Amino acid sequence: MSFDDVIPRRDTGSLKWNAKPTLDPFWIADMDFASPPAVIEALQTRVAHGVFGYPTPHDGLKEALFNYLSKRLNYHSSDTDIVHLGGLVPALSLAARAFGQPGDEILTCTPVYPPFVSVGNDADMKTVTVDHIKVDGSWTFDWEAMEQAVTPKTKVFFLCNPQNPLGRCFTADEITKIGNFCLRHNILLVSDEIHCDLVLDESLTPFFSALHLPEELRQNTIVLLAPSKTYNIAGLGYSFAVIENPEIRRKFTQARGHTMPEINCLAYYAAEAAYRDGETWRQDLLAYLRVNRAIITDFAARELDGKLVVPNIEATYLAWMDCRDFPFTNPAQHLEKAEIFVSDGAYFRAPGRIRFNFGCPQSRVLEGLEKIKSGLQ
Ligand SMILES: Cc1ncc(COP(=O)(O)O)c(C=O)c1O
Repeated sequence: MSFDDVIPRRDTGSLKWNAKPTLDPFWIADMDFASPPAVIEALQTRVAHGVFGYPTPHDGLKEALFNYLSKRLNYHSSDTDIVHLGGLVPALSLAARAFGQPGDEILTCTPVYPPFVSVGNDADMKTVTVDHIKVDGSWTFDWEAMEQAVTPKTKVFFLCNPQNPLGRCFTADEITKIGNFCLRHNILLVSDEIHCDLVLDESLTPFFSALHLPEELRQNTIVLLAPSKTYNIAGLGYSFAVIENPEIRRKFTQARGHTMPEINCLAYYAAEAAYRDGETWRQDLLAYLRVNRAIITDFAARELDGKLVVPNIEATYLAWMDCRDFPFTNPAQHLEKAEIFVSDGAYFRAPGRIRFNFGCPQSRVLEGLEKIKSGLQ
């Protein structure tokens, strides 16, 4: 199977392909690639067993997670620090419910993946946002505005690193500053690192996990990870939290109550295979995505006179495009006339921008860009 293969998905119960069936979909963070062969084989073996009763994390999964954490993230975890979860968004919601009272505040920086600003509703909390700013052409944090946004009610900070939709992979300095900021204000740091295995050039922009923070800061941190974005298995529902502080872990797991179902028994086996056997496939994927990224930046410069502003995409397969030089108040809606469905920046708290998913065969990337061009012109 090659990343160039165009796999029909329209009749497979796909949210991406069925939400607006007449449009060409480049919106939700779901790639059009088949998962690694090792993942598919592991699922087939588990399905062939034929019994699907209540599952528990098996030894193979635990070993794969420890090896992933140590080899990929250079972090040595103990079994008890890991909390298995059926999804990362529910984990954000759990963190809000566990650490905030109604009326308390969540702080986060925008534009950001929309659930960061909506999960607070689950806990009757208010979400306060501070815009990311561009310094020397690169998106970063507005430290001054963040200091001003803190109130005695601020209880949780949601960090998205690498950042969706900006594609930034924050530096050790930036993450350490965030960790110190949270500790100084007695705010829990929740670091969503779901895109960390999609850093496109790690020699240029190494990933710095909040798991690498000094001990004192880690004790005030929940790190959320998942194989779902990288190996395209979001539909199976598996993620995990690393929480070193036993009191935080206790509160977090207690807040689940009876609100979360058991994790899917297939998801455990897919996660195990992805982490244990997926590294070569992941490297091939990153090489393919780097070419897609180059196609996009070249196209924007050459075909759209540089009017479509695309940042330096350091991570993810999501291109954040600033369309404010074009005369449309809602470019995503306008582009529907060109039969393309991209994410509307307004949902990320940044109207006038769109997010284009380039986790697909190069032929589709080019088709999508041509549609953007014809729609914007
Ligand atoms: C930053 C971020 N967090 C979480 C998720 C979704 O996680 P899950 O499907 O495990 O709820 C996404 C999906 O795009 C994402 O970009």
